Amino acid sequence: MMDIQRLMIIGGGQMGSGIAQVVAAAGMNVILNDIDPAYSLKGLGTIRNNLIRDVEKKRKSQAEMDAILARISLSSDLEDGRNVDMVIEAIVENMQIKSELFKKLDLICPQHAILASNTSSLAITEIASFTKRPDQVIGMHFMNPVPVMKLIEVIRGLRTSHETYLLVENLAKRMDKVPIEVNDFPGFVSNRILLTMINEAVFCLYEGVAARESIDEVMKLGMNHPMGPLALADFIGLDTCLAIMEVLHEGLGDSKYRPCPLLRKYVAAGWLGKKSGRGFYDYKKREQ
Ligand code: NAI
Repeated sequence: MMDIQRLMIIGGGQMGSGIAQVVAAAGMNVILNDIDPAYSLKGLGTIRNNLIRDVEKKRKSQAEMDAILARISLSSDLEDGRNVDMVIEAIVENMQIKSELFKKLDLICPQHAILASNTSSLAITEIASFTKRPDQVIGMHFMNPVPVMKLIEVIRGLRTSHETYLLVENLAKRMDKVPIEVNDFPGFVSNRILLTMINEAVFCLYEGVAARESIDEVMKLGMNHPMGPLALADFIGLDTCLAIMEVLHEGLGDSKYRPCPLLRKYVAAGWLGKKSGRGFYDYKKREQ
């Protein structure tokens, strides 16, 4: 089996930076790439802060932290992928933009390289079709926050080879994660269930069933969820939530998946949740 040693993560946002951290912590070299250098720099800042917290809490030594940071390099040039064994893509949830990226990666990356997508809802079979190596394209769906959450949903496209699947399963275990295989359906398992619940919570707010805090408290105290659905939506990003609902609605064709108009309105206003400072809650005034 190929020994994956050098990886490139594309997208230095919340997910990409977390993925770069766990890859480097598992001993591999990682290039964190973003079209906007300010984002990859911000991503590296988040990684550093996470590691400082780990050192303070004695979960890691200073030497371990330094070694992890030394394995991460930043890039804004896709050509830096010409020597990697694997790419994990974590850019915006948009098929058009992802398709252009995968076409370029297919030309740049070595023949043996695996191209994985962290998409939270889009079809892996379709993403793979933009490359000449569909057998080496796979879904690797991490959960947010990546350094904390154990699960990785692993999704085979129709043409993904068993060898690619085994390499990714092995990589997930090296990162101390638990890989679970699911089939290539819109939203897979996690987001088909989670986003339908979040969308229903937004409908509750929209229809005036209860105030936002009450909706979240009902789910926390009543269902033992660690976070309420509206706070969780802010954490995921409302643009990402809307994109996933559109994929579920279009892909499964059932009106029960129609995005709530209020979700659409917030995204149109630029209220994207925690990352923009405002979503269902206001993060400029209060820490959620
Ligand atoms: P984000 O908005 O925090 O970050 C996206 C990053 O991609 C930005 O820094 C942007 O500059 C960069 N980017 C956009 N186009 C690019 C390109 N062509 N080349 C290089 N960089 C590019 O988004 P987030 O939340 O990190 O999501 C990324 C992906 O991960 C999406 O596919 C999303 O569905 C998926 N995901 C998100 C989760 C969440 O909780 N937010 C959970 C699991 C998966």
